[in-house]
Amino acid sequence: MKASVVIVAAGSGNRLGLATPKAFVRVAGMTLLARALRTLRSVDAIGEAVVAVPSGMERAARGEVNAAGLEIPVKITPGGGERQDSVRIALAFTSAEADIAIVHDAARPFATAAMFSECIEAAARIGGAIAAIPVADTLKRVEGGRSIQSTLTRSGLWQAQTPQAFHRALLVEAHARASRDGTVATDDSDLVERLGARVEVVEGSPLNFKITTPDDLAIAEAIATRIGS
Ligand code: C5P
Repeated sequence: MKASVVIVAAGSGNRLGLATPKAFVRVAGMTLLARALRTLRSVDAIGEAVVAVPSGMERAARGEVNAAGLEIPVKITPGGGERQDSVRIALAFTSAEADIAIVHDAARPFATAAMFSECIEAAARIGGAIAAIPVADTLKRVEGGRSIQSTLTRSGLWQAQTPQAFHRALLVEAHARASRDGTVATDDSDLVERLGARVEVVEGSPLNFKITTPDDLAIAEAIATRIGS
């Protein structure tokens, strides 16, 4: 079967300072969730989607799904307390027949269909593949306020993004083990890496940033308006 995609959209987005949950905030007239769904339309390898949303937002999410005009089945589920919980919950609703599962943050409105396709293709060959970009700035470790403790060697450091694609069985096992061991990670790749499985990076983009703060939202608005998307 084709790949299954999990869209995690269950965050509150407290740091945006808005009452609306982040995935339902509009950028140039379109919600972040609608933007993610729209991108899926152009990825032939995807056969189904499961969207995790804040409890109580299921109807609103169904409206976004219908408006996106997707030709694949889309399930909607309440998410969990942390991102990792939302992924685990949504993953359980994906078809066990799917070879590949992809996880994507609704908070990254500028992920491209090519990123999805490349992650899926590389994950099928390798086990796992994630969108990422090489770190451009020099990184400092700062502790105890503002005091620089050390400078990290930038070479070989990449910033992880989503989409992240894996053999579905690997991702299911990674989440099951994390639940058992109480491991908390900020991305799915970390959990899969802990199994000793191989994960590679594919080319992400600085535009594929995650909307976290009001500044990010303003930047996204400017980009969406400029590129007319
Ligand atoms: O909070 P942050 O922006 O890092 O979350 C990344 C993604 O994970 C967002 O798309 C958000 O909606 C999702 N998330 C979730 N469930 C949570 C927390 C975050 O689906 N409990």
